[in-house]
This record gives sequence, structure tokens and C-alpha cells, in this order.
Amino acid sequence: MYLSRKKITLAKEIYNKLFARNNQVIRTAKFSSGVVSKNEEQKVESEINEEPTTHFGFKTVKERDKSKEVYSVFEKVADSYDVMNDAMSFGVHRIWKDLFIQELSPLHGCKLLDTAGGTGDITFRYLNYLNNLENKKKIKSYVTVSDINQNMLDVGQSRAKKLGFTPENGYNIDWLQSDAENLSCPDESYTAYTIAFGIRNVTHIDKVLSEAYRVLQPGGRFLCLELYDQYSFQMIPVMGKLIAGQWEPYQYLVESIRKFPKQDELKGMIENAGFRQVTYKNLTFGVVAIHSGFKI
Ligand SMILES: C[S@@+](CC[C@H](N)C(=O)[O-])C[C@H]1O[C@@H](n2cnc3c(N)ncnc32)[C@H](O)[C@@H]1O
Repeated sequence: MYLSRKKITLAKEIYNKLFARNNQVIRTAKFSSGVVSKNEEQKVESEINEEPTTHFGFKTVKERDKSKEVYSVFEKVADSYDVMNDAMSFGVHRIWKDLFIQELSPLHGCKLLDTAGGTGDITFRYLNYLNNLENKKKIKSYVTVSDINQNMLDVGQSRAKKLGFTPENGYNIDWLQSDAENLSCPDESYTAYTIAFGIRNVTHIDKVLSEAYRVLQPGGRFLCLELYDQYSFQMIPVMGKLIAGQWEPYQYLVESIRKFPKQDELKGMIENAGFRQVTYKNLTFGVVAIHSGFKI
């Protein structure tokens, strides 16, 4: 069998990545079984104690560095993000997102803030949903797509153009670069808030939830769609490398799913932020879940 030089290099790279990960697991095992010296253990502990840390995938990073790391992940993947979403979920993410908008069931007059909105998938579904609802009184609806990453928003804006969601056609999507932990939106300015596949990327989930609560009007609804680790995601980095030519951003994706709080824990956090009637619904045997809460 003939293998091109490019394919051999790619295979070597994939092999090295897998091998490097195994070494990391062995090092961690040695550390916890006492094989690594006390000095090394103390050094790591003192480094960790110096400044608040958090996880970036399986890595421990300083809190102030996490958003930069996440930013760089989505900066790298912005152009291939939509193709990869289809490949990684075998297109099922489209069904999950449709179900998410059905769960929201927006009415005309809705003011939606789609946070961590990326390339606009949730927003375009929201607009399509409203288009299919009768609107005799011509009530206007609104949507703001906000994301920390301008690259993702840029891709979203060109998609909006291609899909015909333009001001000439009567659509005024507001694209806003903003951190979900510190939104540049006034208090009580939206009737609905969505965050799809976004909350696991943030440094402080509690801050995101309290910001969601702040910007929602009384009676407003919070909805979150998130992936859970009920499924083997080991192929994702390999597919990332083969399809988008990048390994690290997709390795991060797998690790961030594993580190994310489980459904009941997130439900508790949503309640702690002040939301009421908090529930969640598992889809596809718990691979993803929709969390819901009301500001009442
Ligand atoms: C996996 S994408 C999801 C995009 C979109 N919601 C979807 O379902 O296709 C995650 C998005 O979260 C954004 N993000 C990460 N941290 C954020 C933060 N602190 N504030 C706002 N957006 C953030 C990323 O830039 C990225 O666009």
C-alpha cells in the first residue's frame, strides 16, 4: 500500500499526540501514588496556591488566562466551526438546536439575547421559527447575538448575509462582542436568554448566570443547551485534525465536556442565581441537556 509523505506525517502527529496523552496519564498516576518526590509535589502545590486557578480542558491554568486560551481556540476554529459541528455530531447538532428553539417557543415581540452565539446557529433558527408564526399585527421581534470572539461573529455575519437575514429583508440582527461574564447590556432588557454549547467555556459559570438574571426582564426565560460526557468523544480530535487540520482545539473540546458540572449540579447553580421553576431535559440519552429557568 502506498502512503503519501503528507499522510505519514499526519499519522505520526496523531500517534505522538495519543502517546503524549498516555505519558501524561502515567505521570499523574505516579504523582498520586507517591512515585513523584515530595519536593515536586510541594512545588506544584505552591504554584497552584499563588493565584486562583481553573481548568482549561484537563490543564490547570490561572483564572485570568482561561478566557485568553478559550479565545484562541475559537479564533482558530471559526472558519471550520460549522463544518466540524456537522462532522462531529453526524449532523445531530442541528436536531438538538431545533429542539432547543422549539423548547423556547418564542412569540412575536420576543427580545432574545443569544449569548456565546458564535456563528449564529441559534439566532437563525429563532428567526426561522418566528417566520413560520402568523403575525397579523406585524409585531416586531429582536435578537442580539453576543460572543466574546469577533472572529466567530464575523463568520456569523457573513452567514446571515448568505441566508438572507439582512436589513434590506427586514432583519436587524444586533451583533455584539461581549463577555458573557460581564455583559455590556442594560438591566432587564431581554425577554429571553439562550446559551448553546457556550457555558462550559467560561471561567465563572456563576457570573454568567447572574448576568443572565440581570439582563432578563421579570418573567423572562433562561435556556441553556450543553453537551455531557455520556458518549465516547475520543474520535473528535482525530476528526478535527483530518477535517480542519487542527488537533488542540478539538482536544480541548473533549476535555471541557468532561470537566463540566453534571446536570443536577448545573440545575443547582441556576437556582442559586435566582431563577425559579428550574428544570432540565436530557436529549439523546443524556448526551446533551436543555436547562430552563424563569426570572419570576
Ligand atoms: C461551541 S461555540 C457555540 C456557538 C453557538 N452557540 C452554537 O451553538 O453553534 C462556543 C462559543 O462560546 C464563545 N465564548 C467562549 N467564552 C465566552 C465568554 N466568556 N463570553 C461569551 N462567549 C464566549 C466562543 O467564542 C464560541 O463562539
